[in-house]
Amino acid sequence: MTEAVRYEAEGGVVNLVLDDPNQSANTMNQDYSASMAKAVDRLVQQITDDPDSVQGVIISSAKKTFFAGGDLKLMTQSTPADAQRLFDEVEGIKATLRKLETSGKPVVAAINGAALGGGLEIALAAHHRIAVDGGYSIGLPEATLGLLPGGGGVTRTVRMFGISDALMKFLLQGQQMKPSKALSEGLVDEVVATQDELIPAAKAWIEANAGNEEAATQPWDRKGYRIPGGTPSTPKFAAFLPAFPANLRKQTKGALYKAPRNIMSAAVEGSQVDFETATRIESRYLVELIVGQQFKNMTQAFFFDLGAINAGKSRPEGIAPTKAEKVAVLGAGMMGAGIAYVSAKAGMQVVLKDISLEAAEKGKAYSQTIVDKAVSRGRLTQEKADALLALITPTDDYADLEGCDFVVEAVFESVKLKHEVFGEVQKVVKSDALLGSNTSTLPITILADGVDRPEDFIGIHFFSPVDKMPLVEIIAGKDTSDEAIARVIDYTKAIKKTPIVVGDSRGFYTSRVIGTFVNEGVGMLSEGVSPVSIERATTQAGFPAPVLQLSDELNLELMVKIRNESKAAAEEAGQAWPESASEKVIDTMIELGRPSRLKGAGFYEYVDGKRQGLWSGLAEQFPVADEQPAFEDLKERLTFIMSIESIKCLDEGLLSVPDANIGSIFGIGFPALQGGAIQYVNGYEAADGSIGIEAFTARAQELAAKYGDRFTPPASLLEKSKNGEKYV
Ligand code: NAI
Repeated sequence: MTEAVRYEAEGGVVNLVLDDPNQSANTMNQDYSASMAKAVDRLVQQITDDPDSVQGVIISSAKKTFFAGGDLKLMTQSTPADAQRLFDEVEGIKATLRKLETSGKPVVAAINGAALGGGLEIALAAHHRIAVDGGYSIGLPEATLGLLPGGGGVTRTVRMFGISDALMKFLLQGQQMKPSKALSEGLVDEVVATQDELIPAAKAWIEANAGNEEAATQPWDRKGYRIPGGTPSTPKFAAFLPAFPANLRKQTKGALYKAPRNIMSAAVEGSQVDFETATRIESRYLVELIVGQQFKNMTQAFFFDLGAINAGKSRPEGIAPTKAEKVAVLGAGMMGAGIAYVSAKAGMQVVLKDISLEAAEKGKAYSQTIVDKAVSRGRLTQEKADALLALITPTDDYADLEGCDFVVEAVFESVKLKHEVFGEVQKVVKSDALLGSNTSTLPITILADGVDRPEDFIGIHFFSPVDKMPLVEIIAGKDTSDEAIARVIDYTKAIKKTPIVVGDSRGFYTSRVIGTFVNEGVGMLSEGVSPVSIERATTQAGFPAPVLQLSDELNLELMVKIRNESKAAAEEAGQAWPESASEKVIDTMIELGRPSRLKGAGFYEYVDGKRQGLWSGLAEQFPVADEQPAFEDLKERLTFIMSIESIKCLDEGLLSVPDANIGSIFGIGFPALQGGAIQYVNGYEAADGSIGIEAFTARAQELAAKYGDRFTPPASLLEKSKNGEKYV
């Protein structure tokens, strides 16, 4: 057995050192559980043999992080047949921690770095937690991976903070926080400034509490303990208990996220029983999630795919790290203003140019609004706000772009205008400046025709609102160099966004896929599907916004413009143009003067820009049929159409599977609970319980037979399905 936990006894203090020799970070693998069990047994034995030889216990880590949590790779491979084994393993790990917290000696956790999930759960079994101040995270992020903190995390936080606070502050949204916040929230008890102070502080706490029975007993093991805020058996609490599931449904808009549901059940049921029973309930709810498909889908996207992207998987090799120093932002409209803000926030100098100084200043005022709000909420100091604003120089003069090494253009969407602008820009910026365009639809290769250095030209597609949306779609044109890709990836990292890299094609990846989704949803109106059903089907499938509402935001006029351009391009290439049921609906809405939220009228009514209900005239324009299609069909048409288009993008070599999964979730709202547009194909869970790519293919064929050829499985899907392969 590998000793993943070292037992070090010195001067009455036993230090349990987490230090798995086979790994760079400690994880909850079998070596950990076996050696932690052995170490705790030895401790208990020593206490029994010679109680005075132990004053207290420290749990510390010899790695850079404290403890990384469960071994997700291993967990994603489990099936329902593993349920009992997993339950026993989890219970074993928890029994060890329980033995430690009831050993009668004070236990202190010395947190030197990231303590997430299982890592924090180990620390929660200590009687006192000390963390080193720093930029790392502490928390129980399990919910974000479709899991539940089943190493005692639910049971202990409920007993520390009460059901309501535990759920809202730590569990349901998997909040991660810096040590200082963890201190103010009560997750840790002390914060020290440096690593050197950590172990001495832990020893000092033990010295101060040696022989103190209360310090060596968890609150929930003391006489007369009650869960703060009450439990379902206390009348005051019982009165608002029914609101819990209702709020959760509201938050997830009816989409069936299993983890929060299980977390809530474990918290509420566990609060009504003794500690040991509560942890068993917690284990059962955890195992149910581990062996299910949703956890596997979410973990694939949010841990493995996102991890690969963050590790720089798409960054071309052999290029030294780069740093954008002075950014030229052309166009200070909605997008340019946001791009200027995120760049200045990352400490870059920004020159924000528009056609008039007034327009440029208006763009800068956007940053002012954001920082003012942050200052008034105490999230930013006035000094930092001023420093950020000082980095942005508004101008109407190209000459001010001198010295810029990184350009992001965000003027109106026109090839001619963009060519003109770049023609001027390239004369004044540095001779090797990166030339980026935030175009949402125009082919990069065509835009690059307007510059002398097409190798330095690249698409940097942001999403609106720029300061909130996490994704940046990087588009390489025909001549774009690897160095340009690397430079933009470095820039997106600096502004704390997630980059995906895609090949040049009409609509790139995100706009192209979202187009199929909107057409599908809008087209349903012409089939006589009730608009309310369409909207509900979208959110219940797990999309953040209903599809007709989204169409209003995207603007039907813009969609027609893109449609016409694509149609012309298809004709030119001699390709057939697939007629879509949505075209008629879109044209009708435009004729009726209801193209968008921007114009104050769309599928919804708007008053002063504020969305009201669905437009009452819809029923007359698109009469609702007596017979409605199955609700499940509506939901799956919206997800399938995006996944099938994503498969086509993969087949064309436009992007990688991780980029498609993350791009679809972060950029176009593909249901997170499915793990993204391609993971949905790989890990599809059919209504009859069958799982995987074959089940997806069968269902696609069914939808094609019922609703049209657009659902016909592409050749690569049939091939993979036949061979039992996945998209990787
Ligand atoms: P906008 O209309 O809000 O802003 C465009 C700005 O460019 C205006 O302030 C205009 O005065 C300025 N401008 C025009 N000609 C100029 C010139 N010669 N020099 C300097 N500035 C000039 O447009 P928005 O929405 O910010 O879009 C800008 C670009 O970003 C477009 O290419 C658009 O397709 C793209 N985009 C838009 C997204 C959106 O959600 N609105 C999302 C992603 C990309």
